[in-house]
Amino acid sequence: MVLSLPIPYNTGMGKTDPATRIDELKKLIAIHSDKYYLQDRPEITDGDFDKLMAELRLLEDENPIFRTADSPTQKVGGGVRKEFAAYSHNPPMLSLDNSYNPEDLREFDKRVKKGLARDHAEYLTELKIDGLGVNLIYVGGKLKLGVTRGDGKTGEDVTVNIKTIGDIPHAVKTPATWARCEVRGEIYLRRADFLKLNEERMESGEEPFANPRNAAAGSVRLLDANITQGRKLRFYCYALYVFDKKGTAIRDTVLHSQIEMMEKLAALGFPVNDAYKKHTSIDSVLEVVAAWEEKRKKLPYDTDGLVVKVNRFPDQRELGATSKFPRWAIAYKYAAEQAETVVQNIVVQVGRTGTLTPVADLTPVLLAGSTISRATLHNEDNVKQKDVRVGDSVIIQKAGDIIPQVMKVVFEKRPEGSKPWAMPKKCPACGDEVARAEGEAAVRCLNRHCPAQQLEAIIHFAKRDSMDIDGLGPSRIEAMAQKGMLNDIADIFNLDYAAVAEIEKMGEKSAENLRKSIEAAKGRGLEKLLVGLGIRHVGERAAFLMARAFADMDALMAADEEKLTSIHEIGPEIAQSLIQFFADAENRKLIDKLKKFGVQMEGSRETPAAQTLAGKTFVITGTLEGMSRNEAKELIQRAGGKVSGSVSKKTDYLVAGSDPGSKLDDAAKHGVKVIGKEELLKLFAPPVPTVPDYPSPP
Ligand code: IVH
Repeated sequence: MVLSLPIPYNTGMGKTDPATRIDELKKLIAIHSDKYYLQDRPEITDGDFDKLMAELRLLEDENPIFRTADSPTQKVGGGVRKEFAAYSHNPPMLSLDNSYNPEDLREFDKRVKKGLARDHAEYLTELKIDGLGVNLIYVGGKLKLGVTRGDGKTGEDVTVNIKTIGDIPHAVKTPATWARCEVRGEIYLRRADFLKLNEERMESGEEPFANPRNAAAGSVRLLDANITQGRKLRFYCYALYVFDKKGTAIRDTVLHSQIEMMEKLAALGFPVNDAYKKHTSIDSVLEVVAAWEEKRKKLPYDTDGLVVKVNRFPDQRELGATSKFPRWAIAYKYAAEQAETVVQNIVVQVGRTGTLTPVADLTPVLLAGSTISRATLHNEDNVKQKDVRVGDSVIIQKAGDIIPQVMKVVFEKRPEGSKPWAMPKKCPACGDEVARAEGEAAVRCLNRHCPAQQLEAIIHFAKRDSMDIDGLGPSRIEAMAQKGMLNDIADIFNLDYAAVAEIEKMGEKSAENLRKSIEAAKGRGLEKLLVGLGIRHVGERAAFLMARAFADMDALMAADEEKLTSIHEIGPEIAQSLIQFFADAENRKLIDKLKKFGVQMEGSRETPAAQTLAGKTFVITGTLEGMSRNEAKELIQRAGGKVSGSVSKKTDYLVAGSDPGSKLDDAAKHGVKVIGKEELLKLFAPPVPTVPDYPSPP
């Protein structure tokens, strides 16, 4: 067969249309890849093959709506993407000019008024979400592309990863005249999810992310979308552009202001951060800027400031943009709080899986409202790279406003004779060997009986998310371990309560209460037990799936990789980790001991809850009588409902106990129904068929 060789494509008007040529190129590339990779019989030179690919890439860049996920430009060999394809933003994704104090904002207001040639302007303030800017392209209401901001002109096509983000709709009901629309916004991670991710990374010897922003950016740009999916990424949008089928921008014919655009985005089903506010004076803007300085610290995600935008679109058009920034918007950045202090010592902590973490003991210093006396140094390489030494003056900062970090050394103040710090060659807790596996950042203690590891394992086992043993917190566990009463997890169920009562500040009453809560913990079941055992890669979700799939621990222990990976969402990494854990004689002994002490190991598959709350979203606030918020959350989730942290238009019910706080106001604002515990319990019951009234006797 004679194959047509690359036909140069003419981009001029009236020639082959791009869609036809793209199809032709894809077919040619598929034929030649096959001959090259599978049949080992190439018929064209590598150079000619590259030309076909280059032409396809160019055409797709010029006509991104024709770039499909199955295009050869998106794949390498077995379907793994070598790198992300480039995409040109139109209009470009501009950056924002920054302001740092009220004077800067007053200057901005003056420039705006001058530009508009009048003495009043309307503004909208929005939170500046600290994440990764992205552009989502919808064609005919269907999500076709997700692209990073990149340098503002060209971004990376990360569609596959973007599609794993639950907040991002794959299809929206747009008017028929909207041939294409672009939604721009920020992908971010909540602080709690960031902390959890970093914990997991450090446990598995990976470099922790510096802050939630970096973690979100790193997660969006992963080559394996399965990993992105596990990262709990979220999305807030702040801009919409609309084009008709000729590609003409038509947004401003239907929407007239920033605030109308935000309302439209929310109505279409996009997540919009509802902290936006309209202002008719810069004084009012400055009040909001001052108010958020403290309030933003209580948000579950990071904001690095506010964005102030001229509200009305005709005014925005009038003001225009420089090559870098729009003249109608400005970011207001709050200063990251930093403090200087002295490293008194560098100590090494041993984690549950033996990871050695260097920690700086600091001269106590006030930072962002709390006194800081310790800061993590993450790992050996980080200490080396920053060259942190005992006695150094250092600048500390809160990462994502939470964990304090040592940012840098003030070298001018370094005392004479200081020595570089080195990781100890032996475990500081047990004196055993330590080692650093190739490619890992973590140094680990290799002694599994290391008392520090056992202590952390017991603390993890008793935690609320694991076996939830009330009254068995870290300090008590430590006290009991010191007395030799707790050497491993199983010892929890074999305590001598007379001896427990003797422990300082415990007494008989506390010992009796502890006995009761340990008794109660025995019945938590397989799911909580698996979380408590702290098996690598087996978090809450995997534990939930295991408990649903297996009748009990014995059935789980007997399962091979094939059986485990046949469970939806369970991949080979989790399966292997479980197999290795159960193959270990010591772990099997531990499970036998737990069984002997009466710890229940049944799965949850016999009692699937009726999915009476499927599709409903709840927010829980205040103190519910006789039920913790966690218990309420679990009940709702088991009945198929979702529990969210903040009230929005999408919330169906706010479950309020006593002292409900500001969420009640939010519910009133969005017209969300407020219910109490009793009404919640009624919702769980499947609908009762109505019985006709018994006819009353004549
Ligand atoms: S408006 C032309 N609004 O901050 C207007 N940006 O430092 C451009 N960002 O690139 C952006 N929250 O990634 C806008 N409410 C918000 C934002 C926001 C976060 C990001 C965005 C932008 C960067 C500029």
